[in-house]
Amino acid sequence: MLVSAKEMLQKAKAGHYAVGQFNINNLEWTKAILLTAEEMKSPVILGVSEGAGKYMCGYKTVVGMVNGMLEELNITVPVALHLDHGSYEGCLKCVEAGFSSIMFDGSHYPIEENVAKTKELVNIAAEHGMSLEAEVGAIGGEEDGVVGKGECADPQECKTIADLGVDMLAAGIGNIHGKYPENWEGLSFETLDAVQQLTGEMPLVLHGGTGIPDDMIKKAISLGVAKINVNTECQLAFAAATRKYIEEGKDNQGKGYDPRKLLAPGFEAIKATVKEKMDLFGSTGKAE
Ligand code: 13P
Repeated sequence: MLVSAKEMLQKAKAGHYAVGQFNINNLEWTKAILLTAEEMKSPVILGVSEGAGKYMCGYKTVVGMVNGMLEELNITVPVALHLDHGSYEGCLKCVEAGFSSIMFDGSHYPIEENVAKTKELVNIAAEHGMSLEAEVGAIGGEEDGVVGKGECADPQECKTIADLGVDMLAAGIGNIHGKYPENWEGLSFETLDAVQQLTGEMPLVLHGGTGIPDDMIKKAISLGVAKINVNTECQLAFAAATRKYIEEGKDNQGKGYDPRKLLAPGFEAIKATVKEKMDLFGSTGKAE
């Protein structure tokens, strides 16, 4: 059964580790992430962007697929199904479809509007026993065609949003979705520290997990990050493994064209990536 992300993140914050949010794109992605979480005895959050939701034929299809897998694959570790960077309307759709967690990204609104909309969603999420993530300070890079430049959040604004009763807070600290440019300045630990000092127990969320050096990830966790989002890295691993298979001509050997064979190396590559991240984030064994 899907669970809200609230408890797993409170435990992570108290235990100084982070739970990974891995974004899903299709059946192979979902199966790879769920099986790895079970093998690693790690809690996990499946992230679904609005674009990926559309691609997978809508939120109801996603809920059906994920619930089916939890049962058929005998998944026992805590799993949350979470809307990633949701609009207000997207959040309402996911509440109705049976997600267990939502993110409302109001970071592009003036702070008053972000506060007002987040506040409404705090009540709606609570009524449904779901967890809610809010965002202050846009995360840079491109996601679903929206390009931001990687701002640093205002810690006082973070406190205002945290005090509304959200379960987790994404604060921009110079992080970017996708690959980091050569001249990236790194995470602003000064901002992160200031945000944590004002928001206390609130589990903080680090978006743009792909390509952040391991030592920065560990430092971010030590400063209150309890959820780390990874998407691009699984895509790169999947693409590289699939490319290798085709370039080696394996699709032309025997029944190598069978999608169950053709997608297998990519599937294994996602599993290996997720495993590595769970070890790095410290969530391995935390669901035992
Ligand atoms: P990456 O694609 O950079 O890993 O970021 C994922 C993310 O933050 C999803 O919200």
